[in-house]
Amino acid sequence: MKDLTHSADAATVEEALAADNHQGVVDSEGATALAMQNTLLTPRFYTTDFDEMDAIDVSGVREDWDKLIDQMKSDPNKGHFKKNEDWDHIDWDGMEPKLKAEFIDFLVSSCTAEFSGCVLYKEMKRRGNNEDIVTLFQLMARDEARHAGFINDALREAGIAVNLGFLTQKKKYTYFRPKFIYYATYLSEKIGYARYITIYRHLEANPEHRFHPIFKWFKEWCNDEFSHGEAFALLMKTDPKLTSGVNVLWIKFFLTAVYATMYVRDHQRPAFHKALGVDPDWYAHEVFTKTSTISKQVFPITLDIDHPRWQKGLEALQRANVDLADAKKTGNVFKRVSASTRAAIAFVGLFTIPAVKHQVPVSTRLEPAY
Ligand SMILES: [Fe+2]
Ligand SMILES: [Fe+2]
Repeated sequence: MKDLTHSADAATVEEALAADNHQGVVDSEGATALAMQNTLLTPRFYTTDFDEMDAIDVSGVREDWDKLIDQMKSDPNKGHFKKNEDWDHIDWDGMEPKLKAEFIDFLVSSCTAEFSGCVLYKEMKRRGNNEDIVTLFQLMARDEARHAGFINDALREAGIAVNLGFLTQKKKYTYFRPKFIYYATYLSEKIGYARYITIYRHLEANPEHRFHPIFKWFKEWCNDEFSHGEAFALLMKTDPKLTSGVNVLWIKFFLTAVYATMYVRDHQRPAFHKALGVDPDWYAHEVFTKTSTISKQVFPITLDIDHPRWQKGLEALQRANVDLADAKKTGNVFKRVSASTRAAIAFVGLFTIPAVKHQVPVSTRLEPAY
């Protein structure tokens, strides 16, 4: 029987979250517990000063703003994020156990990240009075609810589901000032685009590595993320202070943190990357290059990812992280302190690599070009 309602067809975030495929989800304790984790490496839920965000005046970027909102309202991806005849059957039981575990970890953490965006955007929409802001956040929340719903569809086939209602109520919310939300969310949308499109193009050229059908949906998916990133670029453009002075250091911090987190996290999934036929070091460099090129639209600096200390620093951070995980498992306090210290030193080493400066264009607007 066909789904009566599906988040993919919903016009609003409320409708999407109330759709059949978001309901009656058999909670899998393991998956929800994974999604509940709050470490430096796992997706978090955020809250912010919604009144300050509501006070943003977009009239300085009105023309680009209206175009973007019209494009999002036209909703080219309505109905897209659900299974159709392109969806292949997956033999979950026959999947190599290590790959299965890493792939489920990938799906659960992606689902949590999508839902984290949904919760934040929906809350902004609920609290706001500013027509421009409320409209944007409603549209973005709609997209993220569809993305999360679709990942949960894929997980359900493996007999797993993340209980999103439980997460909303119980997961810890981290407070970020609005400007930090802009930097972090802008980057996560753009790096999300770069990650998905890189995998999509790789599998287009090497279809024998497409071990799950969800990757076929990544192109439209990442175009949504691209638009969300565009919106945050415009929001930052409304106030030049956000991308100048001491804030450039904050931008550098967020760039370093987001790139380093991705590197460490991806290196925890060797079987997943092997199945995709992707070398995680190549993948990281590719994604950083794309994200850096895009982020020049609004950030006056990019990280020097070809600096000799960059790759070495990432590797040191990753090794420290492996040791830290071991130490936590065995309860070895000395090893834990020493691994944490090494991780901190590696991060500082990455952060202190001189950044590359450049001129930011007057108009930020970009189209997804990869
Ligand atoms: Fe998304
Ligand atoms: Fe997004």
